[in-house]
Amino acid sequence: MELAIFGAATFAFALRARARASAAPPPKGAPAPALHLGKDFAEKRRRVVEGGVDNLHLIFDFDRTMTTYEGPRGGRGATCHHIVEARRPRSVRERAEALNGVFYPVEISARLSREFKLPVMEVWYALVNDLLVETGMTRADLEEDVREANVALRAGVAGALAWAARHDVPVTIFSAGIGDVLAECLRQLVGPLHPRVRVVSNEMRFDARGVLVGFAPRVITPFTKNARDAMGDAPFFGELCARRNVVLLGDGPGDATMADGLGCETVLRVGFLNDAGAALRQLAEFTAIFDAVITHDGPADPLLSTLLRDVEAASARAPAPAPVPAVGGAAAVAIAADAR
Ligand code: C5P
Ligand code: MG
Repeated sequence: MELAIFGAATFAFALRARARASAAPPPKGAPAPALHLGKDFAEKRRRVVEGGVDNLHLIFDFDRTMTTYEGPRGGRGATCHHIVEARRPRSVRERAEALNGVFYPVEISARLSREFKLPVMEVWYALVNDLLVETGMTRADLEEDVREANVALRAGVAGALAWAARHDVPVTIFSAGIGDVLAECLRQLVGPLHPRVRVVSNEMRFDARGVLVGFAPRVITPFTKNARDAMGDAPFFGELCARRNVVLLGDGPGDATMADGLGCETVLRVGFLNDAGAALRQLAEFTAIFDAVITHDGPADPLLSTLLRDVEAASARAPAPAPVPAVGGAAAVAIAADAR
């Protein structure tokens, strides 16, 4: 795969792992993915590595971050919403597509402000939630919906999940998609998730017969993704706050705030600027908010795998941790939570 370099501040190297991705190889002549590193990348990476496995927390956006932008069967890969919409009756699909046609351009517009987009997204989610409830779909439908979906994991994601499980590193999957759908995707694509993988997303509500009757009251849209609001009351929130370093991966400007409220020292932000057109139009916007930007639906590796390898190596070199003090207080609570 070719090397692509944009501008002096950019350090780019070949993203060879794409050829090994589960998704179909890129069509001939497709532009090569490039990696753009911001001025803070090296220092933040150094701090993440130095902190070792015990201080690390990984946060992934789901749609088009853990999954690819291009589907394995060609065309756009399905989002959580697309996955459930695809197998509903035609009239439902048409209405969902019409809503998509109105609201998706607002979501991705580089000209509209976040303040403008916020309430518009809420309207979109309310309309689609009602539409899905109307269909009377069941929990059992989800398994087949996912099996039929045009969706694949991005190269490097499964390896990162396996690495985190081996080292007991917490992983938060923070998505404005649908938690029930993404959990089924991951179950089918990578198998059961480690207990320290938490899904923070929109939740479907089913009745005793397994029929979809609504959604949890807290709606997560692409512009309400901050840890304080979405998981501040979760039982694992304290455990996450005790981690000093976050590596966060997302594909939209709204993903850059996913660690807000955790109070960590270092947040290393990796952004996927998937769309070829956007790679030209929005590169400056993305490089301003992400420390590393991977264009053209490129793989998370080798950036992620080499980072995790170095974190692991630094931990192996570090002296054994001091024994847990036999006193109460906040420090002891944090250590006990980490030890789980
Ligand atoms: O996991 P992530 O936060 O990326 O999920 C949100 C994505 O779901 C958005 O990028 C949005 O375009 C997509 N979406 C959709 N249909 C909806 C609502 C959101 O495809 N009805
Ligand atoms: Mg996304």
